Amino acid sequence: MNATQKLILGIESSCDETAAAVVADGERVLSSIVASQIEIHRKYGGVVPELASREHLRQIVPVVREAIDQAHITLHDLDAIAVTQGPGLVGALLVGLTYGKALALALGKPLLAVNHLAGHVHAVFLEACATGDRRPELPTICLIVSGGHTVIYEVQNKSTNGARQFSYTRIGGTRDDAAGEAYDKVARLLALGYPGGPVIDQLAAHGNPHAIRFAEPKIRDSHHDFSFSGIKTAVLYHIQKHPELQLEINARKEAIARGERGAEALRKLCTPATLDLIASFQRSVVTNLVSSTLAAAQEAGARSILVSGGVAANTELRATFEREAKKLNIETFFPSRALSTDNAAMIAAAGYSLFAAGHFQDATLDPVPNLPLV
Ligand code: KG4
Ligand code: ZN
Repeated sequence: MNATQKLILGIESSCDETAAAVVADGERVLSSIVASQIEIHRKYGGVVPELASREHLRQIVPVVREAIDQAHITLHDLDAIAVTQGPGLVGALLVGLTYGKALALALGKPLLAVNHLAGHVHAVFLEACATGDRRPELPTICLIVSGGHTVIYEVQNKSTNGARQFSYTRIGGTRDDAAGEAYDKVARLLALGYPGGPVIDQLAAHGNPHAIRFAEPKIRDSHHDFSFSGIKTAVLYHIQKHPELQLEINARKEAIARGERGAEALRKLCTPATLDLIASFQRSVVTNLVSSTLAAAQEAGARSILVSGGVAANTELRATFEREAKKLNIETFFPSRALSTDNAAMIAAAGYSLFAAGHFQDATLDPVPNLPLV
């Protein structure tokens, strides 16, 4: 082990993933363990907060232990412990935060409080470090798009010593549902299983995205805000107006109950009309996300665009961003799937910038479910 490198343990438990990771110098991921709760929440079609907290309690100790073992270090080798303080579900946050706090106190190590959204921004830089690719140039516009968040930030450099320290300005965000939530709710309406994003992503490729025109959400006072609850309702009305769709919905429900999940199995149970509906829904969401983010980037004079969070894995979102941003001479950066979805490596990387700035916490640290990013 290199004696001069700084080792940060990251702990993440803001939603439905219990995660721990060890990152060296905010750049090299030595281990990253994620225990997903998808199987637990699947039958409810969304995250159930009480079940999430209970599962975090079961997972936190083995997940941290595995992260330490896989990094081939001991807890005493750590230089600091970074925990997610918010935003997120309070009961879920409390588990990781309390465990991290206790660990920091017991080991006599500094404690760092990380904003989960800052973690998603740092994930993009972590990816560039891992692959050796060019780092995004600042100022940049970051779209964080997941099951819990859909928000645009302008990210600026505030470092005076070369460390990766950012300041954040919120440019816009969703007024109601997050984009990932809309995917999950539409998947539920159409009986496509949970989570809905990956299945809709694959099925959309087989439909006509121009078949149905959904009205664009009207938000009068901001052209950078989103609204996704309207499109979910529009899909519901479409299903009600076309009762023949209900037969296939029932057939898919039965198939899912038999354990036949995933895009390939479900595609056989989708008529062209359903595939068109899925493709049109996705096109509307993607167009919305891309156009607002590009407008924000142009206004800010951004040199790059970062897209992070679970929905950043979406094939059409990636392709559309790359194509449209290129026309404006702006480079787009996406983390790999592992760094895009909730993980603790991004928390450790964001924690490193707090460590470098000496922003330490004490035992009074509490979770903040609506923690703003500044
Ligand atoms: O970041 P994440 O793992 O968890 C949080 O929500 O914090 O994101 C999960 C969300 C789910 O809503 C899921 O449906 C969506 O991301 N998702 C996708 C894709 N993969 C995951 N949405 C669209 N296309 C995908 N390929
Ligand atoms: Zn997240």
